[in-house]
This record gives sequence, structure tokens and C-alpha cells, in this order.
Amino acid sequence: MAQFDLSNRGTFGSKFGIIAAAAGSAIGLGNIWRFPYITGQNGGAAFLIVYLFFVFAIGIPVMLSEFVIGRATQRNPFGAFRKLAPGKPWWLVGVLGIGAAFMILAFYGAVGGWTIEYLIQSIGNTFKGKDAAELQIMFNSFLSDPVRPVIWQLLFMAITALIVLSGVEKGIERFAKVLMPVLLVIIIILDIRSVTLPGAREGLEFLFKPDFSKINASVIFEALGQAFFSLSIGMGTLITYGSYIHKKDNLANTAVIVSLADTFIAILAGIAIFPAVFAFNIAPAVEEGLVFVTLPTIFQQLPGGYFFMLLFFVLLIIAALTSSISVLEVVVAFSVEELKIPRKKATLLATAAISVLGVMCALSWGGLSEFKILGTHFFGLLNSTSTKIFLPLGGLLIVLFVGWGYGKSKVKNELSNQGDLRSRLFKLFMFLVRFIAPIAIALVFLNGLGILKF
Ligand code: PHE
Repeated sequence: MAQFDLSNRGTFGSKFGIIAAAAGSAIGLGNIWRFPYITGQNGGAAFLIVYLFFVFAIGIPVMLSEFVIGRATQRNPFGAFRKLAPGKPWWLVGVLGIGAAFMILAFYGAVGGWTIEYLIQSIGNTFKGKDAAELQIMFNSFLSDPVRPVIWQLLFMAITALIVLSGVEKGIERFAKVLMPVLLVIIIILDIRSVTLPGAREGLEFLFKPDFSKINASVIFEALGQAFFSLSIGMGTLITYGSYIHKKDNLANTAVIVSLADTFIAILAGIAIFPAVFAFNIAPAVEEGLVFVTLPTIFQQLPGGYFFMLLFFVLLIIAALTSSISVLEVVVAFSVEELKIPRKKATLLATAAISVLGVMCALSWGGLSEFKILGTHFFGLLNSTSTKIFLPLGGLLIVLFVGWGYGKSKVKNELSNQGDLRSRLFKLFMFLVRFIAPIAIALVFLNGLGILKF
């Protein structure tokens, strides 16, 4: 069994290992399922521009800050802050992160379950001959089923737990490294098919030709939340992963590569979805169902579509797992290191607790559709609260800590591997974490919550 005490922490085997693992965490349902429907709901290209601004001005600095904290301390987020700032309340970031992990994995597991359902439907080829309207009915009836979403959600959580139990190094990264490029190829094939559909142009314009009148406080708020969610930042996932990075690896390069890869995949997913949405007249109201309605429609228009669709859903499940394990790992690392619970027990307990919330998410259109808090069902509540509030709040505290609390020279030391690497952009990084990122997050936050109006 994998050991997980502090003296014998796993590390990622190679430079490519850490990039693959962090990219594995970042790239997942956030890019392929969430990004398209959130972009669709928030006006397309204008949203994309705000999103890109947040990735570069806030996302990369937060990610790098997490790596710094994680590698400097070799601990989970909670323990990391206690080590770096003893006696000060920064460890609250760790607590926030655990809360976010519970919420995110609850609804993430439900969507992971949907991907399993769709793999099974692909095997049976039940999409065959159905048009978009029929596929939408199919998706809705699956969602309101009282049993299937729950079973698949539990299965998805069980697989996540199994992988986490097997430890860091031996985990899934190894074969994800090989498989994720295949996913990329399939998405590119889908892109080509989608943009060559008659009527595709409108979709491309939707995604790339901004109508700035669509930008408002809520669009900006959604863009910030999506950037945090997609990059896996703000809850300590990358503090935890950072703690497994070798002292000789270049943190800044890793953060930039991972963020670029994540953003690239999200945009490619958008290019697959929107031309098809317009070409097939798919109703914008499908929301969370967008990819599940659109992709089977496109696959039907593709030579060898049956085969590609099967492969696609297998790979999507794997992409989702490389993300879900990184969320679970936050809770497990905390329980092992801070609560001294053995790794196996910690994993099982955390998975069971999160699955309870997850079942409630999976039933949000079924048995629990009447159960609403603040006017939204449970799934929607966790989905938006975690991404728009918990993650940015965590991110705000993380950059404030690295910018103001930790000490400039220590940050510089960690980033330059104790002076071994030249850090040309260090000044820019410090400027972003001290001023731009915290001010931007705070403003978006206050504006989005309606506390300040611009
Ligand atoms: N970034 C992951 C995705 O896009 C989800 C995630 C969020 C993972 C937060 C870890 C932390 O699918």
C-alpha cells in the first residue's frame, strides 16, 4: 500500500509527470461539459474574452501561487498555511478548500455519472437516427430517472476512490499521459466536422465575434468562476499537487503550460459545439445537457462516428477521473496529515460523505426536483456556489498570502529553485499577485453579489 506520511511523500516521477498530472486535474468536464454551456448562456464571444483575461491576469498567478505554497511546505493546504504562517488564520484557506472540494466533487461525480450513461448508450448505439430534439428528450428523461443517474454517480465515485487509494505515483497519470493526446485528436476531428456543417458560420461568430453589449456583472462573475473551476485553482488542489513537485522543476513554466493547455482544450470544445448548435438548431435552453445533446448529433454526421463516439466517451470519463481524483486528494491529504486517519480509511470516509451530497445532485432533476434552496435545485446550488464563491474567495486569499503575507524573498527563492533558475518575469508575477489579481477578484465579487454596482 502506498505510504503517505510526511517523510515518505510520493513525488511525480518526471517533469512531464507533473505537467501531465496538473493538466489532468485542470482538463476535464470543466472544459468539455461546463465551458460550452456556460459560454452559451453568457453570450458567447464577449464572455470568452472576459474569460481569457481572467485566465491570464488571475488564473496563472493563482496557480503559480498554489505551486509555490505546496512545494515550499510539502503539505496539504491546511497544513501548508499552518507551517508558513503559524498562529495566523491563513489556514482558513484550507478549510474553505475542503468545503469547496466536497461541493465540487458532489456535482462533478453526478456529471461523471452522466458520461458513463452516455458511454453505455453509445455502445448500444441508441442515438442512431435521432435528431437533436429527440436527443434532448432522451437526455431529459435520463436526468429525471430516479435510479440510473445515482448508480452511475456512485460508480464514478467508486472508481475515483480506487485510483486515489492506489497512491500518487502509481495512479492514473501514467496512462492518462498517453490517452489525453488521443482525446485531443478526437476533439479536433469533431471540430473539423462541426465547422464544415452547413450553417456552421453563425456558431463560429457566436463564439468569436464579440457583442460587448452582452457583458454585465453576472457574465463577468460567471467567467471568473469558470476560469477558477477549469484551471482547478482556488481550493488547494494545486497546493496539494505542488507538494509533490520536485525541487528542481520549474514552477512558472508548469503553470503557464498547464493553463494554456486547459484553455486551448476549452476553446476546441467550443469550436466543436457551437457551429453544430446553430447548424442543427439546438435549443439554447438545454443548459447542462448541451454537450450530451450536441455531440451525439455531430457523431452521427461523421464517417466512423460510432467508433469515434465510443472512444470519445471512454476518454472523457478518463479525463473526468484525472480531475475528480485531484479533488478527492485534497480531502484525503488533509485527513491523513492533519487528522492522522490512515489513507485507506480517509479515502473511504471522504468518498462516502461526498457521495451522499452527490446522490442529491444526481437526483436534482428526478426525485429531488422539488427540493429547492434559494430557488435552485441542489445540483445548481453546489455548482454555482462552489465555482463563483468558494474558489474565487480561496484564490483571493492565496494571492494575498503570496503577495503580502509570505515574504517576497521566500517567494523568489521558491520560484527560482533557490536561485538556480532565472526568473525574468518575477516582477510581473509579484505585481499581478499583489495588485491586479486581488483587486480584480474583489471587484468582480462585490459586483457579482450586487454589493457594489458599476
Ligand atoms: N478543473 C477540473 C475540470 O475542468 C475540475 C476541478 C475543479 C478539479 C477544481 C479540481 C479542482 O474538470
